[in-house]
Amino acid sequence: MRFSGKTVIVTGAASGIGAETTRLFASEGATVFASDIDRPGGEKLVAETDGDVRFVECDVCDPQAIKVLMDRAAEETGGIDTVFNNAGAGGAREDISEIEPEAWDRTMDLLLRSVAMGTRYAVPHMKGRKGASIVNVSSVAAVGPGYSPTAYAVAKAGVLHLTKCAATDLAQHGIRVNAIQPGFINTNIFTATLEIPEEVKDQAKAMIAQMSSNAQPVARGGQPADIANAVAFLASDAAGFMTGASLVVDGGITLGPRHSWDPEEGGAFEALMALEEQVKAAQQNA
Ligand SMILES: NC(=O)c1ccc[n+]([C@@H]2O[C@H](COP(=O)([O-])OP(=O)(O)OC[C@H]3O[C@@H](n4cnc5c(N)ncnc54)[C@H](O)[C@@H]3O)[C@@H](O)[C@H]2O)c1
Repeated sequence: MRFSGKTVIVTGAASGIGAETTRLFASEGATVFASDIDRPGGEKLVAETDGDVRFVECDVCDPQAIKVLMDRAAEETGGIDTVFNNAGAGGAREDISEIEPEAWDRTMDLLLRSVAMGTRYAVPHMKGRKGASIVNVSSVAAVGPGYSPTAYAVAKAGVLHLTKCAATDLAQHGIRVNAIQPGFINTNIFTATLEIPEEVKDQAKAMIAQMSSNAQPVARGGQPADIANAVAFLASDAAGFMTGASLVVDGGITLGPRHSWDPEEGGAFEALMALEEQVKAAQQNA
């Protein structure tokens, strides 16, 4: 019961990583304010989860709605101990040669400004709380192109830097701020905006899990629980010496191409060694 008596805010709690993290915090004694734009999904989560989980409808693109969420949680429980800035979606799909300014701004508001404002409006209620901490969701997409559309990747890179800056701003109040960089995790994010039937969405999710497990040393699809466990660690006293840091939880997908960790796949280095062997063998036979 690491979070007994603690008040935790989770944004984007109705699905995937947010839902699993809500269940974990609640199972360990926290009062969780589970917020989302998806009211039916949020109410279902509350109904199906043991413990003290309270749904609050909140669109993280609306700073005023974020303020209302934070104020309400503090009013009902006396303060806020942990914020998990998690809500998100894939954002604009266009590449940089085609994206419109409005689509760019919408993606930044959803994925980056939301984290800034989720911090901004929680902090007044976190000052002086022992062990207070904020966890922000970034992504492996923050460290290089190729994992997501461009606007998403740039916003998630912004979340990493915001995490460091907020960690320095908030040190004086005893609030730790860390980020998490998930790899490919099996959730609705990949299919939420696809115009295809539900059963095809399940196939699409299985396809992503298979593709990612083939591309990473840990040969299985990532699950929401993989991220929830890391978030709970960052929010707990066990991470009391960590601030401004980011935990990469990605099955090793960012370590390098398959040949760098799979002996079955020959890379450039192995090709050079084989060439050297060939030359030596030819010289001996000459
Ligand atoms: N799944 C992955 O592979 C992966 C990888 C890296 C990062 N992430 C990040 O993890 C976070 C959670 O994603 P997920 O994979 O659990 O996806 P998900 O689609 O399962 O859940 C996202 C939740 O956010 C909510 N949401 C969307 N827009 C919102 C808004 N404007 N206001 C409030 N809530 C909103 C959705 O309703 C949904 O419940 C996102 O920030 C995502 O970018 C996911």
